[in-house]
This record gives sequence, C-alpha cells and structure tokens, in this order.
Amino acid sequence: MRKAVAIGAPLLALAGFAIAQQAPQPAPAQTDIAALYRPFQAPPGERTRADVAWPAPAIAPGVLPAPIPGVGRAATAAEVAGWDIAVRGDGHNLPPGRGTVKEGEDLFATHCAACHGDFGEGLDRWPALMGGRDSLRSDQPRRTVGSFWQHAPGVFDYIRRAMPYAAPQSLTNDEYYALTAYVLFINELIGEEVVIDRDSLPRVQMPNRDGFVLEARPDTPNAACMTNCRQGRPVTVTMDSRQFVPPGSESGTAEPQ
Ligand code: HEC
Repeated sequence: MRKAVAIGAPLLALAGFAIAQQAPQPAPAQTDIAALYRPFQAPPGERTRADVAWPAPAIAPGVLPAPIPGVGRAATAAEVAGWDIAVRGDGHNLPPGRGTVKEGEDLFATHCAACHGDFGEGLDRWPALMGGRDSLRSDQPRRTVGSFWQHAPGVFDYIRRAMPYAAPQSLTNDEYYALTAYVLFINELIGEEVVIDRDSLPRVQMPNRDGFVLEARPDTPNAACMTNCRQGRPVTVTMDSRQFVPPGSESGTAEPQ
C-alpha cells in the first residue's frame, strides 16, 4: 500500500502550500541538521529497519480529493492485491510457492544469463549478482547480492518486482522462488538441495545483515521553494526517457543531452 503514502505525501504538501498562501508565515526556525540525522532508535526487541513496522502516516480528513461523481470507481480487492507485493526483510508478505536451485538454474539460463552471465558473474556492464564478499571495506568495493544485501527475502522481492529486465513480474511465484534459490546458491549462501519457500527464505543469513545503520533521516530536510524559484532562468527539458539506453548496448548517449 505504498501508493497511498506516495499520493498522500504530495497532497499534504499541497495542502500546506494552500494554507501558506493565506496566512503570513512566521520566520522558519533554524533547522538543526544534526538532530534530523540522528541514528534511529528501533523499538526494543527489533533488530533492523526492515523488521520495524512503520506506522501509517496520518492523513487528515478532507486532504484526499473527494471522488468526482461519475468518474472512476473504488479499486477492487484484486486490483489492490496486484499492487500490494512488497515483501518485508523479515519475510512478511511472502506468497505461497516454492522453488529449487536446480529449477532456478534452468530458469536463470533462459531469462537472466544473457545479461548476468550463466553464474551471475555479469556480462559486459550488466551487473554481477555474485562475488565481492569481504570487499565492502576495500578501496574497490563490489556490491552484489552476496556481499551487500541485508535480507534474503529482499532478493525474492527485487527479482519478482523488477526482473527479467524487459518483462518484470512476468513469471510465477514458484519460478521466482527458484530463481531466488539459484542466486543465493551461486553466492554460496545455501546448498544445492535447499528448497526455498516463505518459511526457509527468511532463515537464510546474509553476510552483510549487520552492516546497515538505522537512521531517522527525513526525505527532504530543506524547505521547498515555492516562489520565484527559477529566478528568471528558463525551464527546459534536460532529459527524456526515450533517450534511455540500457548499459552494455554500446549505443546511445553517455551524458544527459
Ligand atoms: C536485459 C538484461 C537483464 C536481464 C535479462 C535480467 N536482468 Fe537483472 N538486472 C539488469 C540490470 C540493468 C540491473 C540493474 C538495474 C538497476 O539497478 O536499476 C539488474 C539488476 C538485477 C539484480 C540486482 C543486482 C544488485 O545487486 O543491485 C538482481 C538480483 C537481478 N537483476 C536478477 C535478475 C534475474 C534473476 C533475472 C532473470 C529472471 C534477470 N535479472 C534478468 C539487467 C537484466
């Protein structure tokens, strides 16, 4: 249900803007940056950011626009479920299903190896999915699933959400479990016989699980500019998504045009 948050936040900002237009504002208090960037204190008994259940942001009544009669309809439960695929680091919201390393190896060869290589070593400039263990503190850190990622359920979440690159969310949950198993296997995090499902996946221990720091950093500590922001400079389009060229294709532009 990230959508509600994403939509709600700008609306709150807009509502605040409307009020700001009506009443003269007191001078903004000096922002204490150090206080904003303080380490986040997790509730007792909970270990990492991903284990912490974040409270839903309060949305004041009347902030969301009233439905326009005759336009749109309430989303059905099935439609909401289609968006509600986020899997938490502790495995919360993992779907039913299962997959083996062997099944994953075959699927990987079909759907993934063209970019990531047969063993996740990464072809051309496509990202490697294995290796880099113990490199994070070196002068050449290599961040991969095996060296960097904090939670094994996040591997399932990412692959299902985003891969294969050209057809995300196009495979079945069983296939995504199998691919997750294979990616963990090539990182030597599970044995060849392990079956990955919603019970076994959260138990896989990622090497860098304690390498992240909890922090209560706000998204935007600066006050938004609402008047005369461009100071006379013209607004121009500097980049266009049609110019995006996948890395490794050896064509297109290297710099924003
Ligand atoms: C057309 C090339 C392509 C194919 C095919 C592809 N990927 Fe990717 N993959 C990428 C690119 C590009 C990224 C980086 C995306 C980004 O960072 O936004 C990526 C990122 C990833 C990552 C995250 C790597 C990291 O450490 O950040 C994983 C895991 C992954 N892919 C798994 C898979 C799996 C599993 C498949 C097959 C189902 C697959 N990919 C198919 C191009 C591809």
